[in-house]
Amino acid sequence: KLASKEAWGSRLGLILAMAGNAVGLGNFLRFPVQAVQNGGGAFIIPYLICFLLMGIPLLLIEWSSGRFGGKFNNHSTPYIMDGMGKAKVWKYVGVFGIFTNIAVVAYYTYIESWSLVYVLHSIFGTFESMSQSEVAMFFTEYVNVCTTSTGIPFEAVFFYVLVLALNIIILSKGLGGIEKAAKIGMPLLILFGIILAVRGLTLGESGKSELFPDANAWDGLNFLWTPQFDSLANPKVWLAAAGQIFFTLSVGMGTIQCYAAYIKEKEDIALNAVSAGFLNEFVEVVLGSSIVIPIAAGYLGLDWVLENAGFGMAFQTMPFLFQQWGEFTAVFAGVFWFGLLFFAGITSSLAMGTPWMGFMKDEFGWGKTKGAWSFGALALIMGLPTVLLYQYGVFDEYDYWAGTVSLVVFALLEAILFSWVFGIDKGWTEINEGSEIKIPQVYKFIIKYITPLLLLLVFLSALITPFQNEWSENISSILNGGNWVLDNSSLIKNITNYGLKEQIQIAVNDSDKVYLESK
Ligand code: PHE
Ligand code: NA
Repeated sequence: KLASKEAWGSRLGLILAMAGNAVGLGNFLRFPVQAVQNGGGAFIIPYLICFLLMGIPLLLIEWSSGRFGGKFNNHSTPYIMDGMGKAKVWKYVGVFGIFTNIAVVAYYTYIESWSLVYVLHSIFGTFESMSQSEVAMFFTEYVNVCTTSTGIPFEAVFFYVLVLALNIIILSKGLGGIEKAAKIGMPLLILFGIILAVRGLTLGESGKSELFPDANAWDGLNFLWTPQFDSLANPKVWLAAAGQIFFTLSVGMGTIQCYAAYIKEKEDIALNAVSAGFLNEFVEVVLGSSIVIPIAAGYLGLDWVLENAGFGMAFQTMPFLFQQWGEFTAVFAGVFWFGLLFFAGITSSLAMGTPWMGFMKDEFGWGKTKGAWSFGALALIMGLPTVLLYQYGVFDEYDYWAGTVSLVVFALLEAILFSWVFGIDKGWTEINEGSEIKIPQVYKFIIKYITPLLLLLVFLSALITPFQNEWSENISSILNGGNWVLDNSSLIKNITNYGLKEQIQIAVNDSDKVYLESK
């Protein structure tokens, strides 16, 4: 085959596009919730260990596999993986990755559309003089599709389709479109993030409201940043930490391989991969944890945050909290915060479109327009159930299967392919070729043994998660000849569908929680 003609316009473009891919809704919405739900300071240590032992290795694996594939003019995981392993099965593993992208993009762009809508409502002052329960109610009505707060029927559907169309239009411009989106979105995102984080950190005593006189922003930060070592023995926390690391670094789906396939043969990947990873972590642990948690804790108290931590929290509370800063400031805060979410979201959802487009190009020679529109059509078909049936917890099912389980499975398989089929010696050469930094030699060992082993452990624990995550109780029960009681969230139960009903029930309750509680 001929060498690929398409390539990133500049090194800056590549870095911003890769950073845009990684930095997403995961950093600002998913991380704080995961941290809070898993014990705050108890979450941080497993999280950082997962970053070093699985995150960085997988980044190196994906960047080098991608650039390797690009040498043979391959731009999608089915072709890249096929070129690394002899057996045909690797091509199908690659195809599996493509469909993960489509399932994730389906619900991811939905949150993106909420962000855009909330930018508009912040500008038009919709939230002015609303009470906390009214703001929460606004969200509940919005996602209940047909009952809408603004009088526009199916507002949520309309904006969902609009955001999807925007993604398609940018994607049909190819790498140049992605670079441009990243060049506009990323600097603004960082700027907005810093402004809001400074505000969150300096909220201090001024955050007190008459409603919650004990509320204090620092309680939230202390809770997050006081390490607790007892959690190291809790598999549930490890699972959540690993899941968050995969999601936030965008590994386990093939988007990084696809971006890396357009890097020139002799160009550095080691330094780029590691810096993109650290940049994402900076945005996540510094900016991501300095906004929602301290601001919500500052006004509503840490107890409230612990009880209500959930995905919609940022939409159900932030517009109200911003109002407390004064009407004028609230407009800016709303635009900064939801604008930040929108930019974070779109630079990531664009990345999720490229594996499909690359595959259609590799397989059928399809051009960008055809690739982008067919991707959009698939995303719409996959996405409509999440939008129309939000109340029934379909959304959470997607996040669980596509956004968590599939990433771990794919990452496990690609780690095996890289170290054991392609071969770690060849792999290590690929990683270091053209490299501008020296990756410590221990990483060769880590990539070969530790990463696949940890991935296997994570996968197995997900498979057999015991009832209510009571690991120690179930282990001693088994040792005493008793039973292992599976949790509804365990993979086995989910696969056999026993847990489905209860899960949907929980999800329905969750989405109404804030509203009910503030009523
Ligand atoms: N990393 C993105 C985030 O943090 C999500 C993502 C996952 C993007 C996988 C692309 C691929 O939100
Ligand atoms: Na991220």
